[in-house]
Amino acid sequence: MRKSDFHILTLETTCDETAAAIVSSELKVLGAVVASQEELHRRFGGVVPELASRAHVERILPVIAETLQKSNLSLSDLDGVAVATTPGLAGSLLVGLMAAKTLAFSLNIPLIAVDHLQAHIYACRMSAEKNVFPCVGLVVSGGHTSLFDCHSATEFELLGSTIDDAAGEAFDKVASMLGLSYPGGPSIQRAAEAGDADTYAFPRAFIRDTKTLDFSFSGLKTAVRYQLTGPGGADFSSLKIPAQEVANIAASFQAAVVDCVVAKSVLGLEKTGYSRLCVGGGVAANAALRAALSRAAGEGNWELITAPLSLCTDNAIMGAIAVEKLQEGVTESLDLGIRPGLVRKNTSNAGL
Ligand code: KG4
Ligand code: ZN
Repeated sequence: MRKSDFHILTLETTCDETAAAIVSSELKVLGAVVASQEELHRRFGGVVPELASRAHVERILPVIAETLQKSNLSLSDLDGVAVATTPGLAGSLLVGLMAAKTLAFSLNIPLIAVDHLQAHIYACRMSAEKNVFPCVGLVVSGGHTSLFDCHSATEFELLGSTIDDAAGEAFDKVASMLGLSYPGGPSIQRAAEAGDADTYAFPRAFIRDTKTLDFSFSGLKTAVRYQLTGPGGADFSSLKIPAQEVANIAASFQAAVVDCVVAKSVLGLEKTGYSRLCVGGGVAANAALRAALSRAAGEGNWELITAPLSLCTDNAIMGAIAVEKLQEGVTESLDLGIRPGLVRKNTSNAGL
């Protein structure tokens, strides 16, 4: 294979979206499909792992077939297959990995492992259409809130992450307390538009602690709960919260998350000395966060690159990071495993 002319199929099944994309060596997207499971998990107010993995099993082949069709390619045109192997839900990761291994083996093409968090940051590379490294990478999603020192597209180091809930998880849980629909992020954003963010001074964990780049959102979640029910209070289903109060709590909660994320991002830039921040993940779609980061970038004179809304939530286009890996000759053997948990350092792909 000429290293300058190839097509890679990328697969993404880390959580609750079954996604595939075909990208060229020039990072051109030939076709991409995302099958969302939002409907399936809505009535539970969050992702149910077993339901997610079963849905991936049902959807992965049709999603691959549709992606090939959209790309006007057949399986024999593929020069590599990439799959997100870490972090994520174990059952979900395994479905993508088995599909990728089967294709790599039967087509005799290279298998490439993708780190899902690196891929979220790579979404910024795809939209910027220019090299964005080195940079501080921020991933704010339903499962993660992490800052990375991204030396290059493929070399990165974790600078800090949440010690409890992810930002998106807090959005989802607070939305549920307020009787807002799932997923909570967009619902809180909408409700907050009519609210006053100064109504409640909710906690902003670690915000003044310049020694750490970690986050914590569980205290914030509890503070919202106590605001609604009082300490140790009753269940939320019996609460009748006036619309203006919902809006004020949503706005005050959102402002607390935004303040923490912006403060630690700025601290990450100071600590690394980089002048570029790349932001990805579902919560990066939040308008208040985007506006606050943009203000901070203007004041601090650094470059902000946020993934476009379509590439914030899980997708396979961001798996185009596999193009860089294939170009560097970083491929995997068929005993590649999954690694559901987040690790503090960039390590090998040896997994379960
Ligand atoms: O990146 P993603 O699709 O999944 C993970 O990898 O976790 O992110 C999903 C998360 C959900 O928690 C959802 O509530 C949140 O992203 N989200 C938002 C917004 N849109 C999605 N959070 C805040 N504001 C939004 N506009
Ligand atoms: Zn994600």
